[in-house]
Amino acid sequence: MPTPLRERKAWQALERHYAEISGSHLRELFAADPGRGERLSAEAVGIYLDYSKNRVTDETMALLVELAEESGVPARRDAMFRGEHINVSEDRAVLHTALRLPETASLVVDGQDVVADVHAVLHRMRDFANRVRSGEFKGFTGKPIKNVINIGIGGSDLGPVMAYEALRHYCTREITFRFVSNVDSTDFVEAVRDLSPEETLFIISSKTFGTLETLANATSARDWIVSALGSADAVANHFVAVSTNAARVSAFGIDTANMFGFWDWVGGRYSMDSAIGLSNMIALGPDQFDELLAGFHDMDEHFRTAPLAANLPVLLGVLAVWYRDFFGCQTVGVMPYEQYLKRFPAYLQQLTMESNGKHVTLSGQQVDYDTGAVYWGEPGTNGQHSFYQLIHQGTVLVPVDLIGFARTLNPLGDHHDLLSSNVFAQAAALAFGKTEAEVRAEGTAEAVVPHRVFEGNRPTNTLLCDVLTPRLLGSLIALYEHSVFVQGTIWEIDSFDQWGVELGKVLAQQIIPELTSAAEPSLTHDSSTNALIRRYRSLKGA
Ligand code: F6P
Repeated sequence: MPTPLRERKAWQALERHYAEISGSHLRELFAADPGRGERLSAEAVGIYLDYSKNRVTDETMALLVELAEESGVPARRDAMFRGEHINVSEDRAVLHTALRLPETASLVVDGQDVVADVHAVLHRMRDFANRVRSGEFKGFTGKPIKNVINIGIGGSDLGPVMAYEALRHYCTREITFRFVSNVDSTDFVEAVRDLSPEETLFIISSKTFGTLETLANATSARDWIVSALGSADAVANHFVAVSTNAARVSAFGIDTANMFGFWDWVGGRYSMDSAIGLSNMIALGPDQFDELLAGFHDMDEHFRTAPLAANLPVLLGVLAVWYRDFFGCQTVGVMPYEQYLKRFPAYLQQLTMESNGKHVTLSGQQVDYDTGAVYWGEPGTNGQHSFYQLIHQGTVLVPVDLIGFARTLNPLGDHHDLLSSNVFAQAAALAFGKTEAEVRAEGTAEAVVPHRVFEGNRPTNTLLCDVLTPRLLGSLIALYEHSVFVQGTIWEIDSFDQWGVELGKVLAQQIIPELTSAAEPSLTHDSSTNALIRRYRSLKGA
């Protein structure tokens, strides 16, 4: 049993240290130490991390790294990579890192050569993706596929749609890609509105193949195809499945010959580099998809081998713990200054919050410290003209990750320098602010001075990369995956289960028939739920 977090030596040293330094201002820290801006940085696999604008000193960082060490991050990391069952509440290995191992690697887990399994599926995916892209794979009426729709939700949607948007520059423009996730019929209806069924392929992506939303959308998709093409036989030409559950796939009516499998050791939110990424492979082509996998693997290797003090996921992870537990920050903003990364914050929300939104330790004890923060964000510079006001001058402290790129994929006049100048300007403004004296020196009217003061001391990480490529995207995602792991290990929670999503699902199942029934709603509901059900029925005229 690990030492409880609050009793760890490094934790206690951090508590003392926090009391000493929490009042320091980044203005003073920078003024006293001209080398700080370069020293408090780390770089690996194409990502430069400047963490100097955090409310830390060298001593803070040393203590945080000690905390990671004392919390067993290296040992648990190695156990994860070896395939030990570190997902204790589900008794499973956590092996998304095996999805990106090169074919020449070997990893036997629970008696099974997982690298061989992974590459067998990748080979089938490549063959299928090539056939769709070349037009060799035909719809029921003999036409090539012009539209691919991924139906899935959560980890079976957010990764593929994020990566599709992020890597659009590299994707074929010959095929239209859409992603349907919500059980709200609008999602499906709008996605297919302008498409020809004869030219449309559905990828039904669901680890369990039991998710209500996905099955409802898949059923509507099947009806749409069968009614348009006039035969149930059309399903074979217009549907493939990605799942771990062959029995349910075939019960749904998809031949398992048209199924791409993965394994229970791939968590839903860690699955975009499994067959769940099939739509991405079709969009990108197999070679660029391989690059994406190589990027993930680059970061895995860095995480596995770099010393903790220079290890990007460790640094991001311990800083997240520092703000969450010592400064009490409830949220973290992630702002990509790259329009293609517009869905990255949404992707990170599932990754971080489904992983670390836990309140008991691995052994089931209630934690007596805070765990996962709320992650949110928008691409820059849009956010600057809406919510950044609160980050600059509000009363809550929001640590922010700013993600910038030296080059754009769409050069246009001086747009890119205008964009990038904002990355650096925001980090500086948040850190250093503007003092009363500076505001007065500008000749500001006295009554307005307090309004124009920026306290500063708002922490940021700046992640600076060259240009967005599939490989870089893979590394960036793996960086956050492993940062989540570092946080979860320090907090001693199970970052790989998600029991918290179950209760609502069960209640919804109970309520579904009540929405169409004329009988009184269930006596087991509370009075509010019953009143809402009655009101809903009367509004819709049931
Ligand atoms: O409800 C949450 C969840 O279980 C996620 O963890 C998962 O990514 C998503 O639902 C979809 O699950 P599936 O891929 O099994 O349809």
